[in-house]
Amino acid sequence: MSGPRKVEVLFSEKEIIQRVEGIAAEVAAAKPKDLLVVAVLKGSFMFAADLLRAMHRVGLEPQVEFFHLSSYREGMVSTGTVRILRDIESSVKDRDVVLVDDILESGRTLAFAKDLLVARGARRVLVCTLLEKRGKREVPIKADFVGFDCPDEFVVGYGMDVAHSYRELPFIGHVVTEAGKP
Ligand code: IMP
Ligand code: MG
Repeated sequence: MSGPRKVEVLFSEKEIIQRVEGIAAEVAAAKPKDLLVVAVLKGSFMFAADLLRAMHRVGLEPQVEFFHLSSYREGMVSTGTVRILRDIESSVKDRDVVLVDDILESGRTLAFAKDLLVARGARRVLVCTLLEKRGKREVPIKADFVGFDCPDEFVVGYGMDVAHSYRELPFIGHVVTEAGKP
């Protein structure tokens, strides 16, 4: 990283914390049975960690698994194909799965993961995304739980990166250069 980094806050730490509690309540209202949370790595790790703890607070008892999927190179452009870098280990047969990701954009990542879990016999696959970029869908998929509507900008923080940086930020924002331009 060269030079100072500037990130403009889009969703603050406080806003995120409040919304995550709300999502947990929405999941509880769906009365999941034998709940398995499947988090899509890497982008959703922070969201998933907070959501799991919020689920505990609303009385849910989820198990957790991780899918490492990749549709992006080291940049901001999707490659169009989704690859499994690491599969989940648990069976999803007859279970309610909450599939958790950071951003729903083209829909390819979540559609791929959802289809796979359905094919493996999940009872229900509920899609949960922290951010939704509307109007960007290239494959039809609807999220059951959405944290925030996201403007059509490349965002970072709270687990999300650009070229592996910025994941540690406790808030979500977009990168601005020193000249004030992305
Ligand atoms: P989709 O398959 O096009 O829906 O892409 C979703 C995935 O692309 C997310 O899981 C993110 O990892 C990544 N992604 C899309 N937009 C952004 C962004 O603005 N910042 C960081 N990652 C993004
Ligand atoms: Mg991702």
